[in-house]
Amino acid sequence: MLELTDVVREYRIGGATVRALDQVSLRLTAGQFVSVVGPSGAGKSTLLHLLGALDAPDSGSIRFQGTEIGGLDDNRQSEFRRQHVGFVFQFFNLLPTLSAWENVAVPKLLDGTRLRAAKGRALELLDLVGLSGRAAHRPAELSGGQMQRVALARALVLDPPLILADEPTGNLDSKTGAAILELLAEIAHDAARAVVMVTHNTEAAAATDRVLTLGDGRIVTDSAALTLAERP
Ligand SMILES: Nc1ncnc2c1ncn2[C@@H]1O[C@H](COP(=O)(O)OP(=O)(O)OP(=O)(O)O)[C@@H](O)[C@H]1O
Ligand SMILES: [Mg+2]
Repeated sequence: MLELTDVVREYRIGGATVRALDQVSLRLTAGQFVSVVGPSGAGKSTLLHLLGALDAPDSGSIRFQGTEIGGLDDNRQSEFRRQHVGFVFQFFNLLPTLSAWENVAVPKLLDGTRLRAAKGRALELLDLVGLSGRAAHRPAELSGGQMQRVALARALVLDPPLILADEPTGNLDSKTGAAILELLAEIAHDAARAVVMVTHNTEAAAATDRVLTLGDGRIVTDSAALTLAERP
């Protein structure tokens, strides 16, 4: 689904350069729940942003289903994101004046769907994340875990093939976190989809199909590569 070859991303601040990603090569296949772990500053969020075309590499190639996305201009980047990517971030960026279902429906409305048609799907997704009883609540009237689940439902509303989550369980109690993980795994195991999750939680990472460990901008270990290497 996604193939990265020798991807480099550097940040220049004043005279200094930080190499956030250093020659990363990686292949992600559909149907997998992948976690990205590693110390603070290792390049995890940078990698996630590149996978979702929120940012572009300085060099190297990123192909999504065979098409290069590393060199798109801003318009094409945002078009790519709208069509292919659902983002779940730690701070959920819900719109405070909208209800839960309206927040979930926003991407569909931006896509030109009418409110009534969008509402049905939004309610279905809220049901899926266990929030059918909270559809009319505004973000301020929800708990942190509930807001996170609304954000997850919103990420799914356009049915994107790629779901990217940065610390999706970071603010949650362990029970709610486990429910979110289970849901992400279920979504990932659809043959047409992949989920990539950045996490500091080793238990959460252990529950995924593949663990990538980053250190200093490089992939230090890849559980999928280990499995392959162990094959005769
Ligand atoms: N916008 C930016 N400008 C300059 N440097 C940046 C920027 N974003 C990230 N960096 C640097 O790039 C490196 C990788 O950052 P990144 O955010 O990818 O780390 P991370 O692995 O997600 O860390 P954390 O676990 O703390 O979220 C860090 O050294 C960071 O200081
Ligand atoms: Mg980060």
